[in-house]
Amino acid sequence: MEPVRVDVEAGARTSTIWIGDGISTQLSGLLDTARLGARRFLVSNPVVWKFHGPALETAGTGNVTLIPDGERYKNLQTVARIYESLIRAEADRGSALIAVGGGVVGDVAGFAAATYLRGIALAHVPTTLLAQVDSSIGGKVGVNHQLGKNLIGSFHQPAVVVTDPRLLGTLKRREFRSGLYEVVKYGMIASRDLFERVMRDTKALFARDPAVLMPVIIDSCRIKADVVSADERESGLRRVLNFGHTVGHALEAITKYRRFRHGEAIAYGMLAYILIQLIPHRRGRRAMVGALAGLVLLIGFSRMFLGAHWLSDVVGGFAAGACWLGLCITAIEIIPGMGRAAGRVSLVAGEVVNRVPEPAALTPQAVFPDKTL
Ligand SMILES: NC(=O)c1ccc[n+]([C@@H]2O[C@H](COP(=O)([O-])OP(=O)(O)OC[C@H]3O[C@@H](n4cnc5c(N)ncnc54)[C@H](O)[C@@H]3O)[C@@H](O)[C@H]2O)c1
Repeated sequence: MEPVRVDVEAGARTSTIWIGDGISTQLSGLLDTARLGARRFLVSNPVVWKFHGPALETAGTGNVTLIPDGERYKNLQTVARIYESLIRAEADRGSALIAVGGGVVGDVAGFAAATYLRGIALAHVPTTLLAQVDSSIGGKVGVNHQLGKNLIGSFHQPAVVVTDPRLLGTLKRREFRSGLYEVVKYGMIASRDLFERVMRDTKALFARDPAVLMPVIIDSCRIKADVVSADERESGLRRVLNFGHTVGHALEAITKYRRFRHGEAIAYGMLAYILIQLIPHRRGRRAMVGALAGLVLLIGFSRMFLGAHWLSDVVGGFAAGACWLGLCITAIEIIPGMGRAAGRVSLVAGEVVNRVPEPAALTPQAVFPDKTL
């Protein structure tokens, strides 16, 4: 399949996303085409660098900064480390920063690029599925504060994003699945076809089959690019991308960013939203919001203070099971399209706590027997 170009029109700037199987081997040339800085500073982390550093190193001009791996290092201290290596190397306003990694590297390096010398050019080479379909697109960069997630940040559009599905070959299954939840999100908010393909081709997706994976990444990028082009600063439409994020961020914060992958927390958040929508009356919805807040606290409490995961496993499994049953009985009859989506999300969210089968084992027929949707 030929490489595909997707443009994001953000304000006065156009940000170009190149998506192609093996396209990262042409990274230097693509950065040249984008006229990206005479001096190029790479930022990555040791895990990503071990796998992909040797192949990508030549795209930089000798200076590589490796930041510690993990969401808990997405903070201002890590940004300060990047500033320090830029200052020591005398990076100037004509320099560019190339973020090679998942969403954490992209957000942290992007924030450094947005603020160093009041802003230098930025490129992303996303290496997780989540980063390829979501975080590398749209220019949101930033870090966490101990009082909340992504509280410090900016908008800084990358000049170019080089998205190579082949880089996902080294990604752990759990990380890949976490990114797939964001694709499920796009399916739910914008494309039934995408959603159904994810359900149908789950096995091939997990096998990272480029023939199946590429179109899913391309469609996801197009959805996000369209939304960002219409509303870069999140004053309206872009908020749709935050589907599932309110509860999701709460879950991440309460467990100190240690327990859930970002996409997993979002899957729980989508499940929460769907549960709330199923309650017909306002008073009932309020009660449900309260119950869900309790659920979030319970999961956080059990995981943080009891050490054991049994309570969250039981609670999460129960929530997924209850949602599945409730949906089978009511939602399919009332809102067919939503019912199928919601059932799927409840199952994948439940899978997070390992109390329901892997998505590969779940077909739409298994979820909603005897129904033609
Ligand atoms: N800026 C945005 O618009 C936006 C959107 C969504 C999410 N985010 C942010 O993205 C972050 C989550 O990103 P993530 O899920 O990519 O997590 P991550 O960056 O922590 O990466 C997950 C893990 O995979 C490893 N890894 C990355 N690429 C790999 C590869 N090719 N092979 C092997 N291992 C690899 C990383 O080292 C890490 O351990 C969160 O901080 C979230 O807030 C930002």
